[in-house]
Amino acid sequence: MNAVTKDIVENHSCWTLNETPVLNDDEFCLWQNLMEQRTGISLSVDRKSFLTSNLLIRMHELGLTQLDDYYKLFVSNSNAGIIEWEVLVDRLTVHETRFFRDKGALELVGKNYLTSKTGIIGNQNSIQIWSVGCATGEEPYSIAIVLDYFMRINNIDGYLGVFASDISGTAIAKGYMGVYHRNRLSNLPIEYLKEYFIPIDLDHYKIVDSIRNRICFSKLNLMNMNNACIADMDIIYCQNVLIYFKREKRIKILDQLVSRLKPGGLLVLGPGEITSWQNSLVKQVSENNVLAFRRLEENKYNG
Ligand SMILES: C[S@@+](CC[C@H](N)C(=O)[O-])C[C@H]1O[C@@H](n2cnc3c(N)ncnc32)[C@H](O)[C@@H]1O
Repeated sequence: MNAVTKDIVENHSCWTLNETPVLNDDEFCLWQNLMEQRTGISLSVDRKSFLTSNLLIRMHELGLTQLDDYYKLFVSNSNAGIIEWEVLVDRLTVHETRFFRDKGALELVGKNYLTSKTGIIGNQNSIQIWSVGCATGEEPYSIAIVLDYFMRINNIDGYLGVFASDISGTAIAKGYMGVYHRNRLSNLPIEYLKEYFIPIDLDHYKIVDSIRNRICFSKLNLMNMNNACIADMDIIYCQNVLIYFKREKRIKILDQLVSRLKPGGLLVLGPGEITSWQNSLVKQVSENNVLAFRRLEENKYNG
């Protein structure tokens, strides 16, 4: 029993040690399948105690003592069921992120990709980026900052728009606020901090509106991507998301992302997130420590 479960059991009168519902193998399988069906996330057996504590905490909040009752509520099509789905998904998904998490990838996007002869800036003046699994916003803000800074110092006049999506409504709401504790900004180059953040109290900074207004935060489950009208992206960033999915789901998601890229567009993944994946529409970009694929120009695959 982990510390949280122990605390619930010992400090609250509704459960005693003997009554504590612990998931047996069948119950774990039931929840595991449900999560995988709905989110694509595959919960391994070593996450059983994590799932158990989260279920217990939530049941305790609702005053429920039987797992069966919670399961029935969860799968019901009622408003309460929908709320439970939101709450649990939010608690079971990992939102770990930080500003400038993958400097190599940002460098590829900001310098090499934009300045190269075949880069997207040239005969177009708008850049559309999609941050897939954006968590609390650090990733889409980092991309927007790098591109905005780069465009400004190079006198490139263009429009920059970032679509930032995640399955977690709570994470998206934090991203939309654009307020971060100073500790979370320690990774940020000082010139970016000065230019793009405003202190709002002793401990917190807010991202400037000129960047914040360029990000469109939206809740989107990657399992429902078919219903989302997203297309013609110049850059798609999908880092540290695929690791939670089984290989066949990763491949399906990647193929769907490629179909949303413009010819010449760039798909950026986290290092090592997929191996031996091939899609005839893209070619891997050779860049040390960065995993990225470029969509071929139309005439290269139309024959
Ligand atoms: C570890 S964070 C990565 C954040 C950011 N991309 C980064 O690299 O710093 C993974 C994010 O993927 C989101 N996620 C997990 N499953 C998802 C799904 N089925 N649809 C959309 N987002 C999902 C989680 O909510 C979480 O915010």
